[in-house]
Amino acid sequence: MIAVDISRGYVDAPIDEKVDIVAEIKRMKEEKNAVILAHYYQESAIQEIADFVGDSLALAQWAAKCDADILVVCGVHFMGETAKILCPYKKVLIPDLNAGCSLADSCKAEDLAAFKLQHPGYKVISYVNTSAAVKAHTDMVVTSTNARQIVESFPADEKLIFGPDRNLGGYINSITGRNMLLWNGACHVHEQFSVEKIVELKKQYPDAEVLAHPECKSTILALADKVGSTAALLKHAINSDCKQFIVATESGILHEMRKNCTEKTFIPAPPADSTCACNECNYMRMNTMRKLYNTLKYELPEVTVDKEIAAKAIVPIERMLDISAKLGL
Ligand code: 13P
Ligand code: SF4
Repeated sequence: MIAVDISRGYVDAPIDEKVDIVAEIKRMKEEKNAVILAHYYQESAIQEIADFVGDSLALAQWAAKCDADILVVCGVHFMGETAKILCPYKKVLIPDLNAGCSLADSCKAEDLAAFKLQHPGYKVISYVNTSAAVKAHTDMVVTSTNARQIVESFPADEKLIFGPDRNLGGYINSITGRNMLLWNGACHVHEQFSVEKIVELKKQYPDAEVLAHPECKSTILALADKVGSTAALLKHAINSDCKQFIVATESGILHEMRKNCTEKTFIPAPPADSTCACNECNYMRMNTMRKLYNTLKYELPEVTVDKEIAAKAIVPIERMLDISAKLGL
């Protein structure tokens, strides 16, 4: 393999303008026995070329069962880490290592360790949007698809810490009647949605249903007809008799919604400050088709996880996958 510059976190190499990037990605996938796993928040072209598109639970489930030699995770860094932890002997690539997550960043492993010491007797439930190092301090991992059922699987009197998303944690407390201690973290994209803007949209589209991800603030969730993970919102949009939807989550999900429901209208909920595209996750959008092409070509950059951390982090991840399988999720 020739030396390439990845000092910026992605392969910084020119691409000949004659190259048909789409055709080449398809060819290299076959040649290298690689699969592309993409999250619903990726740009449409990446979703279209991926072998599998899903929410964070589905991406982890796919990584766990996939028999390819190379996994290219088109999502954010914690998704790449989860895939690497589940497949330590596979090459796990991500088009841009800088694709982080503000929510994951809101909880540092050392802070969580200190918090645990201040709260003896508590079990820690971590949202999958966390670093491997945080998962290593965790008893159970959840995603937004399975959080409710997994929290309910703990005895009612179990003392629980839930982190890092205060909005998801607060929502789960409200629907389960639990009183989990919440980490004070949030996603900068989902916190941007504005009640006023959604109310204005509802005046324009009075019959529209509001779909919201549980990472949104409780004031937004209170307006929603359906609260759920990206996969749950997509499923609801497909099955609902309604023809119009206001969607309060990252706008990448609209690609699958429109593709699956060609006769329905999907309106992305605007952020409070409509002068910016804050309903796009700047981290998710760091992955591009050009970076994906270079990633497959040079098999870089690789996602790595410290072995000791991985050995601890896999325990709560596998617990989550086992419970999800039993629940049919
Ligand atoms: P999902 O688990 O619903 O795919 O959400 C992942 C995420 O990062 C939401 O911001
Ligand atoms: Fe993280 Fe928010 Fe981006 Fe999801 S949308 S990856 S929670 S920053």
